[in-house]
Amino acid sequence: MVGHDTGGSLDVLGLVPRLGPVLEALDGLPRSYGQVFLVGGVVRDLLLGREVVDVDVDLALDGPAIELASALAASLGGSSSAHEDFGTATVTFAGQTLDLATTRSELYERPGALPTVSPAPIEADLARRDFTINAMAVTLDAERRGQLIDPHGGESDLASGTLRVLHDESFVDDATRLLRAARYEARYGFRLDPTSEELARDSVGRAMLGTLSGPRIGSELRLVLCEEAGVRALERLRELGVISALHSHLDAGEEALELMRAGEALERELEAGAARWRLRLAVLTRLLDAEDRRAWLATLQLLGRDVEVVGDAASLAPALAERAVGAAPTELHAMLAQAPSEAVVLALAHAQPGSAADEALRRFLTKLRHVALEIDGSDLAALGLAESPRVGKVLEAVLALKLEGALGSREDELDAARRMIAGHDL
Ligand code: CTP
Repeated sequence: MVGHDTGGSLDVLGLVPRLGPVLEALDGLPRSYGQVFLVGGVVRDLLLGREVVDVDVDLALDGPAIELASALAASLGGSSSAHEDFGTATVTFAGQTLDLATTRSELYERPGALPTVSPAPIEADLARRDFTINAMAVTLDAERRGQLIDPHGGESDLASGTLRVLHDESFVDDATRLLRAARYEARYGFRLDPTSEELARDSVGRAMLGTLSGPRIGSELRLVLCEEAGVRALERLRELGVISALHSHLDAGEEALELMRAGEALERELEAGAARWRLRLAVLTRLLDAEDRRAWLATLQLLGRDVEVVGDAASLAPALAERAVGAAPTELHAMLAQAPSEAVVLALAHAQPGSAADEALRRFLTKLRHVALEIDGSDLAALGLAESPRVGKVLEAVLALKLEGALGSREDELDAARRMIAGHDL
């Protein structure tokens, strides 16, 4: 359902009030810079009647984008930074950012490579894009403000919930569009039109994903994993053959998807601090052995810390669920406090609801994980215990009592420590 019937024209300011200062600044600049357009996802979301509060605002100009960016920044009291190689610039003002690019055409010299770009009119700039719903522009110049430029029928595809590529080579030129297609389908409940779907399957069959660099796959896969409806997108990617083309041992089977959903539901319920995308990635890579997993994740150029957490969550979760059974509070704490939240949440997702493992892991996540001592080494020094390995042992023993629920206040902790120090049994 399209949220706004445009009749070819949009009330840009009414729909995106935060563009007010930008439009005012544009009105004050000479026309010689060229025509300015709102492009990309913001136009799509605006037409869908979606909130465009947190989305990136992309502007295109059929003129020098870097020069316009510095003029805009000066007029808005902000700053601009140029990416000379790409002829693009970012303007930052009042906590907002705007991305500016010169309208351009793209030539893909070989599948999967980054295209060679050259300045071109807005129509060519729209024609190089992924799907019709992303290939619309809105004019921002004062005389034609709000005019929708929609050469490929994007507005009508939005209305019918259709995802359609602009030409037959789209998924060959850029196979990241396979991942993008699944993400938009899942997010909006849209569907590739039959021809586009055939082209998508054909590009998978012709191993076009193999033409992409690891980092390009990594950044699009991460967007899929971060998407609210990401599990649905993964299901669709499996169905299109994309998952097994990315790596033959990835698991997006029904059970794996169920495990992801269970993990996410537990995270929502218990707020353990597990990142949804890392939970999903841990499940997706659960069948790989540790070395293969690390190697594959490294090709995606994820941060080292993310690779580590995903690896721990994938490999530790099933064992943690088993080991939690019958563990005393101190053992649970020792076993789980240093593990990433993703590992513990996933362990809980593995446990049968109501089982001993379920109970133990829940006890850790709801109670034990919050238990911390109020006293430290300096309190023990004040009680006369000089710095020595014994300090650590006493603190550990006091923590054990606290985890068992035997100590309430800081005074209780000090009393317990005093007794232990006097008792010489530690
Ligand atoms: N684009 C494209 N092909 C790609 C990536 C991007 O044609 N492989 C174009 C699309 O027109 C897209 C625009 O570049 O709308 C901006 O890309 P991006 O910021 O990735 O997506 P958004 O459309 O802003 O949407 P979202 O962030 O909601 O996915």
